[in-house]
Amino acid sequence: MKVCGTATEIQHELASLDKERIALVPTMGCLHEGHISLIEKAKRLADVVVVSIYVNPLQFGKNEDLSIYPRPFADDIKTCQNAGVDFVFHPESLYPDHGIQVGLQVHGLSQKLCGISRKGHFDGVVTVVNILFNIIRPHLAVFGEKDFQQLRIIQRMVADLHMQVEVVGANIVRDDDGLAKSSRNRYLSDDERQQAKEIYAALQLMKRQANQCSSIQEFLALGYKHLHQHRIEVEYLEICDEVTLEPITNIRIFSTARIFIAAKVGSTRLIDNLSLSNHEE
Ligand code: PAJ
Repeated sequence: MKVCGTATEIQHELASLDKERIALVPTMGCLHEGHISLIEKAKRLADVVVVSIYVNPLQFGKNEDLSIYPRPFADDIKTCQNAGVDFVFHPESLYPDHGIQVGLQVHGLSQKLCGISRKGHFDGVVTVVNILFNIIRPHLAVFGEKDFQQLRIIQRMVADLHMQVEVVGANIVRDDDGLAKSSRNRYLSDDERQQAKEIYAALQLMKRQANQCSSIQEFLALGYKHLHQHRIEVEYLEICDEVTLEPITNIRIFSTARIFIAAKVGSTRLIDNLSLSNHEE
């Protein structure tokens, strides 16, 4: 495995490959089993796997956790090595010293769910992912359904801008009690960690009882009630179409529906989602 710190270095390495299919797994590091599952998927679908590790300042809001975001680089390198990664791209910065003057913007898809409280977040994400695609020129890139809105926005970026990269989604990896793995889970105290498992419990409860609800309001109330009982502060709880991310208004149209949640446990903001189609989870 080779670790490259600059765009020139990784481009030089990749230029010497023959016709191998290259997969990119973009990350911000602090790697866990969720990231490893993306790497494994990338290995199944391509010949060469590149993992980028870059905590992208452009996607953090002013009062968000950029300065404290965990950066256990030595551990991440070991994780990549054990997972059979070929190249790690770990740039110090991806932007000019005085900031970039040209970036990308997301419209409709960024005006809902996480985009409401995280203004500019998805512009930062698509800008950095576009830069990474331009540097690595991967044939495919793997993103987790954990950040479902991000996955949809990146698929839309690739379609709208006619980019030559296949975007592949990967299932959410969870702890045994259902909490979705996240680099931010390490902010949780022991008590908060116990509380946090109720987020997935609420999603499962809603899915189990969906057929018995006569309206969307009643359906959402099930989740709110469970979360409030466990003192979890809900930022949003919505049921949306999986493709458009538009809210579902008819309780009987659940075949392409997904429940989306953002909630605070203590001061840690967590997100999760669950498909309501029957074949999944
Ligand atoms: P990060 O939060 O490090 O996540 C990197 C990738 O891992 C994303 O595609 C995310 O959806 C996926 N992932 C995280 N937890 C997961 C889990 N429990 N199961 C499955 N996949 C999981 O997302 C980002 O970084 C950044 O926004 C990035 C795309 C790298 C751009 O900066």
